Amino acid sequence: MTDLIIIGAGPGGYKAAVYAAKKGLKVTIFEDVHVGGTCLNVGCIPTKTYVHSATFAEAVERQPQVVEALRGGVETLLSHPNITLVREKGVFINANTVSGVTAKHIIVATGSSANMLPIPGADGQNVGSSTELLGLKELPKRLCIIGAGVIGMEFASVFQKFGSEVTVVEYLKECLPMVDGDIAKRLRKLLEKRGITFYMGAGVKSIDGSTVLFEQKGKEVSVEADYILMATGRKPNVSPDFANAGFDYDERKGIAVDENFETSVKGIYAIGDVNGRQMLAHAAEMQGIHVVNHILGARGKEQGARVDGIRFDVMPAAIFTEPEAACVGPTEDQLKEQGVPFECHKSFYRANGKALAMNETEGMVKLCCEPDEGKLLSAHVFGAHAADIVQEVTAYITLGATLRQLRETVHIHPTLSEVLIEVN
Ligand code: NAI
Repeated sequence: MTDLIIIGAGPGGYKAAVYAAKKGLKVTIFEDVHVGGTCLNVGCIPTKTYVHSATFAEAVERQPQVVEALRGGVETLLSHPNITLVREKGVFINANTVSGVTAKHIIVATGSSANMLPIPGADGQNVGSSTELLGLKELPKRLCIIGAGVIGMEFASVFQKFGSEVTVVEYLKECLPMVDGDIAKRLRKLLEKRGITFYMGAGVKSIDGSTVLFEQKGKEVSVEADYILMATGRKPNVSPDFANAGFDYDERKGIAVDENFETSVKGIYAIGDVNGRQMLAHAAEMQGIHVVNHILGARGKEQGARVDGIRFDVMPAAIFTEPEAACVGPTEDQLKEQGVPFECHKSFYRANGKALAMNETEGMVKLCCEPDEGKLLSAHVFGAHAADIVQEVTAYITLGATLRQLRETVHIHPTLSEVLIEVN
């Protein structure tokens, strides 16, 4: 007997499976590609392996080793006696049955895939998504990246380091729209100084062999490249058999869910990229835990399921460029738009002893809080280990702490995290 069916063994699906199994639920999980999903196999993990490799050749060699080691770890976790892993596509027969298995509760965690622009020439051999770029065995001499979002910026940074001549073409005026404009601009300028060419406010219209054609300020411009990376967002992986279950979904927006990630059909949930809420591996994981807690309900409390206070409104994110950028909470502009009373505090890495010692002086922190050093609202950072610094502020925001309390917290000297208490 199965209590819970999960479709997809990415970070959302497999973490939910393991958590549910530990709480005593019998789980059947379907996966037709590799366990670990996009994140482990062709996303976060391979990309970080590239970031932490000195050369392209080293990255290409290390990537499969790192991925296989982690995949092995996930397989072990999924060998729990309460879990049955079915290595095939889970197909909805009706609202309770997936590929012949019936259960009261179902979690759809099918993820997302690259959104390729429907422009002429997009199907060219030298055009691909981040998945194809990570599969290249030879370093492209000239790399053109369409889109300066998270994927575009991460690949621009790492391929420039490996020696590619990198050009980024972005439709908007600034890169990384979810990051504070000040921070995003400084990061872009830093990467420009390193030799990456950016065309901002430039919409790509077509690709002709190795030529990328776009328009900037009313002028036709073109860039020549050996490889063209399309980094123009991702789309939820929906499947025609979802109609057999009867829940609401949309090809573009994904599966509609409520605050418990339950679809319009009771007992069927959708977590991670497929619900289009927050396309981040850690968001998917936490959504899965929340759903399992929701399914367990009162019974879960007896079994030690945590009282669920996950703050989905406090969702940190990081961009693994060199140096990193990271954020949690609204940008300064968003706070202004919302008419929220706030004040803004800044500090710079160049004034931090550890940053100087590390020769990592390029960086900036922006903290927004309620007036008079009140409740912390957001942190936007670029610089070495920005993700770790933002993680600290995430804890303060989650617990409702003030900037004053942050300043009163003793910070080890010398550390990068002192940039937080050094804000003006
Ligand atoms: P994105 O939505 O972050 O950025 C896409 C960019 O492409 C936008 O800035 C857009 O203006 C631009 N664009 C669209 N059409 C264009 C055109 N015709 N010409 C020029 N520019 C154009 O999407 P991205 O970077 O592909 O990432 C996809 C998702 O994956 C995001 O939700 C992201 O958060 C997630 N992700 C997160 C990572 C992390 O947390 N470190 C790493 C990689 C991906």
